[in-house]
Parts: sequence; structure tokens; C-alpha cells
Amino acid sequence: PQRALSASDIRARKGGDPLVCLTAYTTPVAQIADRHCDLVLVGDSVGMVLHGLPSTLEVTMEMMILHGRAVARGIDRALMVVDMPFASYEDSPAQAFRNAARLMAETGAGAVKLEGGRHMAETIRFLVERGIPVMAHIGLTPQAVNALGGYKVQGRGADAARILEDARAVAAAGAFSVVLEKVPAALADRITAALAIPTVGIGASAGCDGQILVIDDMLGLFDAFQPKFVKRYAHLAAEADTAVATYAQEVRARSFPAPAHVFADEGAGS
Ligand code: KIV
Ligand code: NA
Repeated sequence: PQRALSASDIRARKGGDPLVCLTAYTTPVAQIADRHCDLVLVGDSVGMVLHGLPSTLEVTMEMMILHGRAVARGIDRALMVVDMPFASYEDSPAQAFRNAARLMAETGAGAVKLEGGRHMAETIRFLVERGIPVMAHIGLTPQAVNALGGYKVQGRGADAARILEDARAVAAAGAFSVVLEKVPAALADRITAALAIPTVGIGASAGCDGQILVIDDMLGLFDAFQPKFVKRYAHLAAEADTAVATYAQEVRARSFPAPAHVFADEGAGS
């Protein structure tokens, strides 16, 4: 297989062709994402979209490792990044290093992502200096939903300065890229112009250096709710519902299995 992209390959794409990024949580979906993406994120969104959790706060290291190992089996070319789950890195740089190293070693990921701006800069520097590439995540940071009072746009009006400072801090600390989530488009453009590392937007701006979406959202597979920033490129939940309804009806009518799906007592076919 081709050599996978590294975090420094991604950083070198600053200002170039837009970085195409998606999440994945399973091998078959990672294989699809890998054919088209530069970066595949094993997001802690897995807790909400695959495990039915109400937020990302209950996601564990064990869940990230299990899904990370599954995704790694589907990736040849993209950079694989694994999210650090809530409470696995905030306590101290040493705690963050221990858990980031475990995520990298047990999944084969090429980088980790963690949430937070200025207050996480020291931790980002600690990890980067010790060989762990870090993708930062600022603006709306879902692990802080309780402190932020909901999944609200961040950085409107006078609050823009706070997000810009967060962006400068994570870049100065050595992050190879930064996710900007749910910030005004003009602010995302300002940050993109100000930083020497690529910005990856979600609910941000087409002017970012790249874009990311939760794959179950863009496939219309997770339809419990739909944030404004999600574009549905398919409606797979609706398609699956129709398929299951048809199966149920055919079983009840004894029209499935058909002769083509059953075996003769003798003769060819296994
Ligand atoms: O967990 C996730 O899926 C993410 C992306 C939406 C950036 O953090
Ligand atoms: Na996440």
C-alpha cells in the first residue's frame, strides 16, 4: 500500500488545495473515506452517532481504541487522527501524554486531536515536543457543552478576540492543524489568514484550508437531529428504512426467500 500522509504533509498543505476530511468509526466506512480524503478522524462523535449517547462526555479511551483499530484496518493513504476523549487529557500534560501515547500505540493513528485553546496550549506543546502530532479544536468544543450552555455559535461580535487568541495559542504551541467549529465565517477567514497552519472548518467558512463533517451526518445515516452546518449528500437512513420495510413485508408474504436464495438437495451450488 501507499505510504499514508503524515501530520507534516497535512501542515504543508497550508494555503494549497483544500484538505478533504471526514470522520469514520468502522473499517468499511474508513475504506470509502480513505479513497477520497486527506485526513480521517476517529471522532468522539462516535459516542453520539453509533452508541446513542446524549453527548460526547461519556466516551471512553476503550471506545476510541476499539473504533481506532477498526478504522486503521481501512486506511492506506489518509492521515488517521484519533480524538482524545473527555477527561483523558485535561488534568495535566503528563496525563495527556500517557493517554495520547496509548491511543497512538494501540490504534496506529498518526496524530491525536484535543479540544481547547489557550488553556490547552501548554499540553499541546508538551505532546508535540515528545513526538505526538496534535490537531487542535477550538470555537464550539462539544466536550465543554455544559460550560458553554449548549451547542452555540462561538466568537460572535466582541467574543471574536477570544477565539482568535485561542487560534494563535494552539498554533504557537505546535499544533499541525486546527479545527474551527461553529464560528462566524468572517472570523474563520481572519483566523485562516492569521495562522501558518491549516484551518479545518465545520460550520465555519469555505475559505478555511479544509473542511470536515461527521460522515454519518453527511450520509443522512444519523438523523436524530441535523445541525445547520451539515449538508446531506445522501439519505441512507431513509433508504435503509425502505429496505427493512420491504424485507419485513416479503417475509410476512413468504415471498422471501425466493428460489434463487435456497438450496436444492443435490447438485451444484454451495
Ligand atoms: O468528534 C468529531 O466528529 C469531531 C469533528 C466534528 C471535528 O470532533
Ligand atoms: Na470530537
